[in-house]
Amino acid sequence: MTTQALECENLTASYGSLVVVRDVSLSVADGETFALLGKNGMGKSTFLKALMGLVTRQATKLSLVGHDCSQQAPHRIARMGVAYVSQESPLFDAMTVEENLRLGALSGSQLREGRPMITSLFPVLGERMGQKAGTLSGGERKMLLLARSFLSRPKLILLDEVTEGLQPSMVGVVGDAISAYRDDTGAAIVLVEQNLGMALDIADRFAVLTGGAIADQGALADGADLERIERHMIWHTEPTA
Ligand SMILES: Nc1ncnc2c1ncn2[C@@H]1O[C@H](COP(=O)(O)OP(=O)(O)OP(=O)(O)O)[C@@H](O)[C@H]1O
Ligand SMILES: [Mg+2]
Repeated sequence: MTTQALECENLTASYGSLVVVRDVSLSVADGETFALLGKNGMGKSTFLKALMGLVTRQATKLSLVGHDCSQQAPHRIARMGVAYVSQESPLFDAMTVEENLRLGALSGSQLREGRPMITSLFPVLGERMGQKAGTLSGGERKMLLLARSFLSRPKLILLDEVTEGLQPSMVGVVGDAISAYRDDTGAAIVLVEQNLGMALDIADRFAVLTGGAIADQGALADGADLERIERHMIWHTEPTA
């Protein structure tokens, strides 16, 4: 039987009196990759923060990796097996790749046991374990952030625009690593993306957020209506007279 790594019903999130996510209901099954799409400022990052308990939220149901998380604190949700790579995730530039990885492990043995997986998914990190994170390229930094989130072998990973600023060849490398991790572990992935190509390559289903609410959703199979999705993603300016 398929189990749901994420189930939320009527999730609303706000900053003070400003409501940013409105009545979002969606579920993501184990082993599934789900793309959350939408223009700037539509509430995508806030939705992920709401799942993690990092902003004020209310929901009639919020279940993550089989646990009721509607009242749980972020560190408890992380310990249940939910990883979150935010748009602002920090790396410690003065520390080595290996030391940065150690920060993602819940124990020393996790780093030892996870190392073969990391070096097989990201060979370039394997070659740079002793190098300072501050000297990595943009693509390598994204790989290190992902690798750090994989180390505790989470069952649900929330990724906020991990391909932002990457050249197309790097986007493919990052997408392949995410899919390989999912296939290896059966984890569920929620991918916030503005890169539609990446979402199409690796996601099974999508939803588009507009003004904090789901405006469209469906499968990303071959027959997906790309033009319809693109219309939600691109800012259209009115022609000037
Ligand atoms: N800490 C905050 N306090 C107040 N308002 C905020 C805060 N963070 C975000 N917002 C507002 O909430 C709305 C949604 O922001 P959010 O970052 O979730 O959008 P997003 O879809 O992730 O955008 P982007 O694609 O640019 O990353 C925006 O109007 C933003 O200004
Ligand atoms: Mg965002």
